[in-house]
Amino acid sequence: MDVSISREPKWSKIDHLFLLIAENDKRWRELPLSKPIQKQVDEAGFSGRSEETITILGDEPRKITLIGAGKSDKLTLRGLRGAIYGIGKIARKQRDRAIAVAIAYTVPGLDAAPSARVLADALSQSDYKYDAYITVDKDESGKRPIAATLIPPKDVDGKRLRDLESHVRTLATGVRTVRDLGNGPGNLVTPTRIAERAVEVAKEAGLKVTVYERKDIERMKMGGLLAVNRASAEEPRFIVLEYTPKKARKHVALVGKGITFDSGGISIKPADRMEEMKFDMCGAAAVIGTIETAAKLELPVRITGAIPSTDNLPSGSAYKPGDIITTMSGKTVEVVNTDAEGRMILADALHYASQLKPDHMIDYATLTGACVVALASEAAGLFTNDDDLARKLIECGDRVGERVWRLPLWDDYKDLIRSDWADVKNSGGRWGGAITAAVFLKEFVDCPSWAHLDIAGTAYMEHETAREARGATGAGVRVTVEFLESLSRS
Ligand code: BES
Ligand code: MN
Ligand code: ZN
Repeated sequence: MDVSISREPKWSKIDHLFLLIAENDKRWRELPLSKPIQKQVDEAGFSGRSEETITILGDEPRKITLIGAGKSDKLTLRGLRGAIYGIGKIARKQRDRAIAVAIAYTVPGLDAAPSARVLADALSQSDYKYDAYITVDKDESGKRPIAATLIPPKDVDGKRLRDLESHVRTLATGVRTVRDLGNGPGNLVTPTRIAERAVEVAKEAGLKVTVYERKDIERMKMGGLLAVNRASAEEPRFIVLEYTPKKARKHVALVGKGITFDSGGISIKPADRMEEMKFDMCGAAAVIGTIETAAKLELPVRITGAIPSTDNLPSGSAYKPGDIITTMSGKTVEVVNTDAEGRMILADALHYASQLKPDHMIDYATLTGACVVALASEAAGLFTNDDDLARKLIECGDRVGERVWRLPLWDDYKDLIRSDWADVKNSGGRWGGAITAAVFLKEFVDCPSWAHLDIAGTAYMEHETAREARGATGAGVRVTVEFLESLSRS
């Protein structure tokens, strides 16, 4: 949706008003609604119980839908986002062109401005559907974006509202970049295509981009990326995006796992749900979408994005369990499981990025099933060597509704990836699988402020849920943009 935030929507243009009402809570009356609307709502006898909805007909706007938000002392971000997602679906079904969404409540724990921002962000994504390849009985309602005006509580002044609005609209384009790229199928979203998309985004946002091809990758001795790519019919790519604003105070490197399809390779995965492994490049997509957003917001932070990309397939030339691979750093890896391929390509990319000596380095990867076992889809796993960075990322995530949860990175776990034949082995087995993966990555990091986000559980939804469409979510962008913004303030 095309979102604006305003206390004075152009009522004559709006065909559908959605009004969130909590049980026994009269705060909705503080919203700038006309007397006739207020009267109609009063007379509707609406309780506000969660998931209760009714639509009443009026003059201007023609339709008013009341949405129950449940008990007012039990409002949650999750609940509010769910209600907003429901609104997007109704508006799409009913072919609404312009809607207003009036919410008198703030997200618990957030001030009025960040609360309005989170709700507007949810609204902007609420009608998202990836239908690029639907050709039969296509629902064309998504063709023209719905114009949505969020009417927030009165606590935020006009100038601030306009800033929030432009922020949310820019964020929405970045999140969309990630979702569209993430949802793209593995036969089309190849390493070559990711590079092309990076070039397109770079042009649009004014970034420098360098695309390294196989020969360059060989010259750079990226042994991890080359090993995983050996069986592939697709060429690998290593993509570097650079945003260099004039008054940059800090330099942040972002690294994203770009496996365009992960079959597991010779250590092949079970067939059941293997199709989900087209999402294994969501880390790469997050890096592209984040730099796009940061550049469009003109944040005064220098950002370098580094993306290693290949698919992971079996063939006669595939890398195998038992192989020993020399990575770009010179460190050797014993391959015990070819399905632990993400860390193989990240080893090279993290070494590359470390050489740039950034102030902070963050990587994004759908790295382990173990992280999904630990946290499901409620939070990304956070691993870091910097307590201060941990605190900031957790805070930023809470503020934008994208949770990250810290897990340990103690050296004690190194025992599990000790190899008799090489410097490390690429899998520590099932126990502590998310942690041993992070501890492996750490071997290739030379940066005192590094964070690894395992987004395996948050980057895509396997089914549609009450608050989210099926498929890529745009994980990583919101928390990172918030962090980059906080750096530009400090
Ligand atoms: N891409 C997968 C991790 C994954 C699993 C992402 C489920 C999203 C949902 C990764 O490459 C992988 O296969 N990891 C293995 C590591 C193991 C072999 C040490 C895993 O988690 O099983
Ligand atoms: Mn794998
Ligand atoms: Zn993978």
